[in-house]
Amino acid sequence: MSGVRKISMIGAGNVGATAGQKIAERNIADEVVFVDVVEGLPQGRALDMYESAPVEGFNTSVKGTNDFSEIAGSDIIVVTAGLARKPGMTRSDLLDKNAAIMTTVSENIRTHAPESIVIVVTNPMDIMTYLVYRKTAFPKNRVVGMAGVLDTSRFRTFVAMELGTIPSQVTGFVLGGHGPSMVPVISNSSVGGVPLTQLLSAQKIDEIVKRTRMGGDEIVNYLKTGSAFYAPASSIFEMVQSIALDERKILPCSAYIDGEYGIRDIYTGVPVLLGRKGAEKILELKIEKSELDALNSSADAVRKDIELLKDHKFL
Ligand code: NAI
Ligand code: 2OP
Repeated sequence: MSGVRKISMIGAGNVGATAGQKIAERNIADEVVFVDVVEGLPQGRALDMYESAPVEGFNTSVKGTNDFSEIAGSDIIVVTAGLARKPGMTRSDLLDKNAAIMTTVSENIRTHAPESIVIVVTNPMDIMTYLVYRKTAFPKNRVVGMAGVLDTSRFRTFVAMELGTIPSQVTGFVLGGHGPSMVPVISNSSVGGVPLTQLLSAQKIDEIVKRTRMGGDEIVNYLKTGSAFYAPASSIFEMVQSIALDERKILPCSAYIDGEYGIRDIYTGVPVLLGRKGAEKILELKIEKSELDALNSSADAVRKDIELLKDHKFL
């Protein structure tokens, strides 16, 4: 299995470290580098992880640093730096603090890794991805956001729990912004090829849609001291692997929209062909009018937060 030379994880907290561990263990890069502002944290986590290599049998070298210049030569960069939500906080509450962090991170990426493909995870994700796109001035295919894979994975799991089947049988797409306005596209959801609408009542599907929209909050309310990281890390890994191995999977990702679905100049969740060049193509699904309307309402919510970035002088 070939892969890429170097993948950098900016942010060595719960999501960054767990995703980096999966990347190292699956041998899809020669080197994984963790960068964090907390002294000792990326170094300690990286060394601890690398010490598992003989047992796990991976060859990827793992390094931690506080020095951003060490991201030089990265093929892929995953940005999880920033604050996570605590109970009662919305993703938008994080906007100002994380926008300041994204500004610094973008400058470092632009300086040290100008050829990289960037996956932004930090919340509020669609807004932070837009900010990184503008601040790095990278082409739109090289900046993409992660949430759709996660939201879809939650949706698929809840459907499987309801039907008593295995989650991987369930297919679907959750599109739109990563927040309460996200749009599970029921018209494209199926289980073993059977349309979901033939397997579950409208009321049951509606309950699953609501639970999916609040999926992140459900975990925050349990954990109390932070937010989800296992399913987010798996979702990051699927995107990273599709790029590193040029799998060209079609995955729901936050991408720069320039007219698709009648939406313009925002980042939001759409089906994306993800390969070695990044977000190579946005696919325009045939979806029902109610779903298209919901996607447009979700885009309006994202646009409002992007306006906040301008009001608060981040753009
Ligand atoms: P965490 O608090 O465990 O880790 C964040 C790390 O970022 C910390 O280690 C912190 O020191 C570091 N950091 C802060 N400023 C930095 C800077 N300027 N440069 C480098 N590192 C810096 O948080 P966790 O749980 O890992 O979440 C990270 C972010 O991802 C949060 O914003 C969270 O809301 C978001 N998230 C997004 C998801 C999505 O689907 N898009 C899913 C899960 C989390
Ligand atoms: C989630 O959905 C916190 O956005 C993060 O779990």
